[in-house]
Amino acid sequence: MIRIASPMIGEEEKKAVMEVLESGMLVQGPRVKELEEKFAEYIGTKYAVATSSGTSALHLALLALGIGPGDEVITTPFSFIATANSILFCGAKPVFVDIDPKTFNIDPNKIEEKITNKTKAILPVHLYGHPAEMKPILEIAREHGLKVLEDCAQAHGAEYRGKRVGSFGDCAAFSFYATKNMITGGGGRVTTNDEEIAEKIRKLRNHGQSKTYEHETLGFNLRMTDIQAAIGLVQLKKLDKLNAKRAENAEFLTSELKDLVQTPYVSPGVKHVFHQYTIKVNNRDSLLKKLNDSGIGARVYYPKPIHKQPLYQKMGYRDSLPVSEEISKKVISLPVHPALTKEDLRIIVDTIKSGLV
Ligand SMILES: Cc1ncc(COP(=O)(O)O)c(C=O)c1O
Repeated sequence: MIRIASPMIGEEEKKAVMEVLESGMLVQGPRVKELEEKFAEYIGTKYAVATSSGTSALHLALLALGIGPGDEVITTPFSFIATANSILFCGAKPVFVDIDPKTFNIDPNKIEEKITNKTKAILPVHLYGHPAEMKPILEIAREHGLKVLEDCAQAHGAEYRGKRVGSFGDCAAFSFYATKNMITGGGGRVTTNDEEIAEKIRKLRNHGQSKTYEHETLGFNLRMTDIQAAIGLVQLKKLDKLNAKRAENAEFLTSELKDLVQTPYVSPGVKHVFHQYTIKVNNRDSLLKKLNDSGIGARVYYPKPIHKQPLYQKMGYRDSLPVSEEISKKVISLPVHPALTKEDLRIIVDTIKSGLV
């Protein structure tokens, strides 16, 4: 089986975990602090506040931005459901804007028509590791006085016009879930240059605590463990190399497949980190079956846009977002992770070529 994702855990990660277990400091301890500092430095922000997951990073970031009941947040319908649900967690309303047919990210040209007097923020996602068009998004936000939260769950190390994603908005959320470009087994992070936002999140993740057993606000238990952070510290050192291997694998797949299917588009001025390598085909379901039957763990991210999910249908969402609706029927993500061998890549290419005839 050639899997869609394969966590790259080695001896160094195992040793780092054992050191934490032997230290007795298991949660929100020195490793978490060290990873907060090193991750902030890597992304190019002042702060990188650790949380328990990408979902909690999004949720706490929105709360720290002051999003609440009655507010609207503009986002993409073509993402993992956590993106939009984090808006619901705050009692606010996700407002979906259709995507660009080439990058599959939120289409900046369609944002302004969805802005109302309730709109408070824009939440773009750097889907599959390809940065969203941040320049026009930031311009629109500035013009209308909106906050920007980047969803970087799939884009550790991706760059837009020479700067790493996660450093553009008022804040940004990262996930270290087991399939991501950088993993800790679970965990998340909010990057920001704003001390007030960082401080709010530090409190919210830890029962609203300002100092030991002094609770100022209603908070949650959304802390990260030192076991996770110890893995993250090793992974962060490897991240650029792991991303380079993903890019190399993607280049091979594109060189072999570009005349047969729509291969991933890379906008000028961006560094795509290929969290997913996603092709677009007309015979999606038969090709997917052929790949899976041949032992290739190709998958569809995402077969149903968020506004079409039962949860959102029950809430009365009836938007027509034709690009995301069409794309969700035609995309397949192929394995591109750094553990693939040349032989794996050859098998993937040959299977697609035989599946298309
Ligand atoms: C785009 C996107 N946003 C948010 C999340 C949520 O991250 P987590 O699974 O760590 O809660 C994920 C990942 O699963 C994701 O892909």
